[in-house]
Amino acid sequence: MELKVEKISKVFHSNGNINTVLKEVSFTIREGQFVTLLGPSGCGKTTLLTIIAGFQKASGGRILLNDQVVQKPGSDRGFVFQDYALFPWMTVRENILFPMKQKGVPKKEREERMEELLAMARLEGVERLYPSQLSGGMKQRAAFIRALAGRPAGSAVDG
Ligand SMILES: Nc1ncnc2c1ncn2[C@@H]1O[C@H](COP(=O)(O)OP(=O)(O)O)[C@@H](O)[C@H]1O
Ligand SMILES: [Mg+2]
Repeated sequence: MELKVEKISKVFHSNGNINTVLKEVSFTIREGQFVTLLGPSGCGKTTLLTIIAGFQKASGGRILLNDQVVQKPGSDRGFVFQDYALFPWMTVRENILFPMKQKGVPKKEREERMEELLAMARLEGVERLYPSQLSGGMKQRAAFIRALAGRPAGSAVDG
């Protein structure tokens, strides 16, 4: 796997102001690398991650995943949102099964993968609770394993 960020720029236009948040940012992440974006609040970390995820468009430049241009969100890129974004109407188990259902993983395999992830995150016993019934750390771990559930090639954690 290889992720290339090529000269990504992002300009926001809001109430007559032009705000250049990203200016030709380039780097490459290779298979197995663990990379952290560091910078002061408001410098554009989340903006860059959401462009890589395909949730918003860059003003310039492009993102390549294995030499393919990223145009939209895809199950090849996992994403843990800053506010976790667990679906509040679904229990922990339903949240974790969701990306696998989207991907068409067979039922037996989904259940096995879920058990494995619940054990890894030490969330056995709370899988039938809703996100609002969990502690902060449990919510965070549930969001992590939901991002891993669909076996993306790479994952990003915002925050
Ligand atoms: N949708 C938007 N419209 C206008 N400005 C935005 C939008 N999203 C982010 N910004 C601005 O872009 C800058 C970078 O934000 P962000 O990427 O969230 O920073 P951080 O590095 O803290 O994650 C901030 O000044 C923020 O106000
Ligand atoms: Mg941020």
